[in-house]
Amino acid sequence: MVASHNTGKVREIRELLSTFKADVVSAGDLNLPEPEETGTTFIANAELKALAAATAANLPALADDSGMSVDGLDGAPGIYSARWAGPSKDFNYAMKRVETALAGNPNRRAQFNCALTLAWPDGHCESFEGTLHGQLVFPPRGTKGFGYDPIFMADGQTLTFGEMEADAKHAISHRAMAFRQLVAACFA
Ligand code: IMP
Repeated sequence: MVASHNTGKVREIRELLSTFKADVVSAGDLNLPEPEETGTTFIANAELKALAAATAANLPALADDSGMSVDGLDGAPGIYSARWAGPSKDFNYAMKRVETALAGNPNRRAQFNCALTLAWPDGHCESFEGTLHGQLVFPPRGTKGFGYDPIFMADGQTLTFGEMEADAKHAISHRAMAFRQLVAACFA
């Protein structure tokens, strides 16, 4: 099970899992409650979500906690990336908020982080983390992907994640990096 209610993340994790013979359901499909993200790191929040889902559904659960950290904002929004979009989860608003907060600051460096935790119903869990460095571009570009994708351009790229096809994003993304480590450790 994918322990997430975020349809963008669930879609990407399904794509990453597509070469495995796994029946994938999401925490949203199973109507599981969304635990409060009380951790202070991406890994702590991924573990909390994976363990809550694995115990509630009695199934192995894969959780993702991720976000974008902006150097010129001392790492914000970071673990609060989803919360910067407000209760209506409006990422146009969140991207504008980042641009406004950076006003006057020429430093456009940022990174995406992704922690993935695979948890079993007996409480065992394994966690992996991927980081991707890049820069912010304003105004937002592209309508693919989700969240902050339209303002993030990875180092060495000319397109934002909002402009890239899914396969191109998976070749370099923070989520795919964490996923490759998970596969090597748990399925090799
Ligand atoms: P959380 O892991 O549920 O706290 O939410 C993380 C938030 O970070 C998501 O809602 C997205 O806004 C953002 N985020 C994480 N990964 C990506 C990505 O690959 N692209 C764009 N935004 C992302």
